[in-house]
Amino acid sequence: MRNFNENIITDAVLERIKGASDLRIKQVSEALVRHLHAFVREIRPTQNEWEFGIEFLTRTGHMCDDKRQEFILLSDTLGVSMLVDAINHPTSEGATETTVLGPFFVQAAPEKQNGDDISGIMEGDPLLVTGSVSTVDGRPLPGAVVDVWHSDDDGYYDVQQLDKIGDLAMRARFRADDNGRFHFWSIKPAPYPIPHDGPVGDMLEAQGRHPWRPAHVHFMISAPGFEQLVTHVFVAGDKYLDSDVVFGVKDSLIRTFEQCPPGKAQDGRVTDKGYFHLNYHFGLRQVPYGARRV
Ligand code: BEZ
Ligand code: FE
Repeated sequence: MRNFNENIITDAVLERIKGASDLRIKQVSEALVRHLHAFVREIRPTQNEWEFGIEFLTRTGHMCDDKRQEFILLSDTLGVSMLVDAINHPTSEGATETTVLGPFFVQAAPEKQNGDDISGIMEGDPLLVTGSVSTVDGRPLPGAVVDVWHSDDDGYYDVQQLDKIGDLAMRARFRADDNGRFHFWSIKPAPYPIPHDGPVGDMLEAQGRHPWRPAHVHFMISAPGFEQLVTHVFVAGDKYLDSDVVFGVKDSLIRTFEQCPPGKAQDGRVTDKGYFHLNYHFGLRQVPYGARRV
């Protein structure tokens, strides 16, 4: 076939894909061509605009390395990450809702004991976090692995300032005790702008958007036979709750970080400073029977 024009080019490309032996690749390729061609037909780009788009994607790729993933940031800010999350984690009774992982998770976080203070050399308002992990019907999950990480009171993660602070802080891995409970001390996190010194930042500015996320604490919780939970708990009252740049906020994940006076805290520790207290219960879904590995 030759002489392709605006009217026949889409069918011609679809025809070329027809022979793909892997059915999933065929389905994805066909949808990609249909939607991409429809997008181009709708916006009718000039040649210069097409070049700008190619250059934008090229810059996005060049921005990526082992520490910075600009394509995921693009997916996050266009709402695609939360759409994929919603498709794969429908809400279900008793199960904690999920949200984006974000770029600041570290695989080998320091293992800590319940009650430890994970703030390292960071200063800020003391925060006591108490939590429990159970099945959707409330059976405690002793031994569940609880990864936590959050920003400091200027909105920076440890990994963004390692040359200044020298070591990981405000992140750790805990194990739920015999009652499925865990607790630790840290400092209260602040809202922060996502990295916006690259093409994604340029896009946000051009779209008239701010780059901020409301303050939150990240949790990743695993237990054998249960779906890994990736979520955050957001600070109630934060001014960015309704305009999170990555669309990650859900009502069920917002909690008041209760302001408490000095004295005997909920975990028995005596403090001479006022502190904040966050308490949250996490419910994990069982891996569906057919999906279990044997
Ligand atoms: C975060 O919460 O750490 C995050 C999530 C998505 C993009 C950037 C940061
Ligand atoms: Fe975060």
